[in-house]
Amino acid sequence: MKNAKLHVEKDFEVARTDGRLFSSFLEHLGRAIYTGIYEPGHPEADEDGFRRDVLKLVQELHVDYVRYPGGNFLSGYDWKDGIGPKENRPRRLDLAWRTIESNQFGIDEFYDWSRKAGTKVMGAVNMGTGTPKDAGELLEYCNFPGGTYWSDLRAKNGHRDPMDIKLWCIGNEMDGDWQICHLDADDYGKKARETAKIMKLVDPSVELVVCGSSTREQATFPDWDRKVMEYTYGRADYLSMHRYYENCGNDLDFLASFVDMDGFIHTLVAAADYVKAKVRGKKDFNLSFDEWNVWYISKDRQHDWMEAPPILEDNYSLLDALVTAGLGMTLINHADRVKIACLAQLVNVIAPIATQKGGSAIRQTIFYPFRYLSEFGRGTVLQPVIDTPKVETKHGDTPLLYTTAVRGDDNTVTVFGLNIGDDAMQVEMDLASFGTLTMLEHVCLDGNDLNAKNTFEAPDRVKPRKIEPVSGTFHSCSVVLPKQSWNMLRFQVEK
Ligand code: AHR
Repeated sequence: MKNAKLHVEKDFEVARTDGRLFSSFLEHLGRAIYTGIYEPGHPEADEDGFRRDVLKLVQELHVDYVRYPGGNFLSGYDWKDGIGPKENRPRRLDLAWRTIESNQFGIDEFYDWSRKAGTKVMGAVNMGTGTPKDAGELLEYCNFPGGTYWSDLRAKNGHRDPMDIKLWCIGNEMDGDWQICHLDADDYGKKARETAKIMKLVDPSVELVVCGSSTREQATFPDWDRKVMEYTYGRADYLSMHRYYENCGNDLDFLASFVDMDGFIHTLVAAADYVKAKVRGKKDFNLSFDEWNVWYISKDRQHDWMEAPPILEDNYSLLDALVTAGLGMTLINHADRVKIACLAQLVNVIAPIATQKGGSAIRQTIFYPFRYLSEFGRGTVLQPVIDTPKVETKHGDTPLLYTTAVRGDDNTVTVFGLNIGDDAMQVEMDLASFGTLTMLEHVCLDGNDLNAKNTFEAPDRVKPRKIEPVSGTFHSCSVVLPKQSWNMLRFQVEK
C-alpha cells in the first residue's frame, strides 16, 4: 500500500469549466457516419435513418458539441455535394481516406442529427481544396436568416430557420504534410485570417478556431502555432491542438500520458501569451483541444475505394480507458485556458461507441471515463495540494496519484483520482474548508486484466463498479484507491 495526502480548498479556484470541454467529433471516415450514426433500414433507424440505439448512447455521454465533418476528410470536401435531393448528390473519391463518399449525409442531416442527440454543431471549413469564398457561402447557408441565394437554398432544403452554428474550425491539421493542400504557417496564417474576416462579416457572432500543431512532435511545433496566432490574433478566438497516445510497450509510460498532454498545453499557453504581448493585445488566445484520444495508429489501406469500410476501429482495453481518464482530467485541470475539447472520435472510428452494421451498439471501455467526467466534472475546477509518491517515466517526473477536483453548483465536491501505480493508494483527504460533508458515492474503474475489452459478445466485461462510500459526516476522510484504477469520489456539502 502506498500513501498520499490530498488537501482540497473550496476557494482555490482554477476556472469554471466551459461545457464545450465535453465535446466529441464525427468525421466522414470509415463507419463513423454511415452504419455508425446513420443507417436507413436498420431496425433501430428513425424516420431520418438515424440509429436510435446510438442516439441513446450519445445522450448518455452528455456530449456538448460534435465537431463535423473532419478531420483529414475536410481538406478535400465540397460541402455543396452534401445538400439537396439525395438522388442528385454526387459520389466522389475521398482522397484523404481513399474511399468512396456517397454524400447521402451532409450538413442538413448532421444538423438534424445533432438536435436529436441534444448536441451542438462545431462546424469546419475546408482550407485545403476549399477557398475563403466557399467558407463564407457555407456560413451563409447555415446562419443567414434568408433572402439570399444560399440562405434560401437552405430553406428549400428543409431548414427555414437558420441553424445558428456559432463555432467553426478554419481547416484541419494544415501543418501536416499528409493534409490535402497542406500549407506552411505563413500561407495558412494568411488564408485563415482572410477566411475569418469573411466569416465574421457574414455572421459577427461566430467563434473561430485556427489550426495549431497537429501533434507536438511536428518539426514546426511550436513555431507554427506562434505564427498562426500572430496572423489571426485579431480575428480568431481559439488555437486548435490535436494529440493521440498509444501504448509503445511500457504500461506505466502509457498511463503517464497525461504528463505529456499537460506539457503540450503549458507550451501553447506560453506561446499564446507571448503572441498577446507581441501584438499588444488584450484578449487571451484560448485553446481548443479538438482531437484527443488513445489511437493505435494503423496504416491500413486494405479498403481502397470502398464505401464506408471499417477503418480505425480500435477496440479499447481497460488500460486504454485509464489513459483516457487521465487525459480528460488534464483538460479539466486546464479549464482556465482550454475551453473546447473533443474526444476523437464518437462512433466506430477510434470511438467510445461501436456499432455492428445491422446489429447492436456497445459502450467501449473509454466510454466510461468520458461519461463520468462529462456528467460530474462540470462546475468550478479547484487546485488541490497533493502529496503523492512519484516515479520517473518517459514523460519525466510523474505523480502516481493524479487528481482533479470540481466544486459543483449543487453543493457537491467531486474528486477524480487516477492511481497509475501497481499498489493500492491510501489517500488522506482534507476537505475541512467545505465544512461538514457526507460521501455520496465512490465509483471505481479497475480490474485484474488491464487488457480486458468490451466486445459485441461480452459488451459489459469492463465497466465501473461501486465501492462502499465512507459513512457518516466528516471534514476529512481516508479512502483507498485500488492499484491501477480510476475513481470518482463525490461528496455532499451539508448545509
Ligand atoms: O481522427 C482521425 C484523424 O486524425 C483525423 O482525420 C485527423 O485530423 C487526425 O490526424
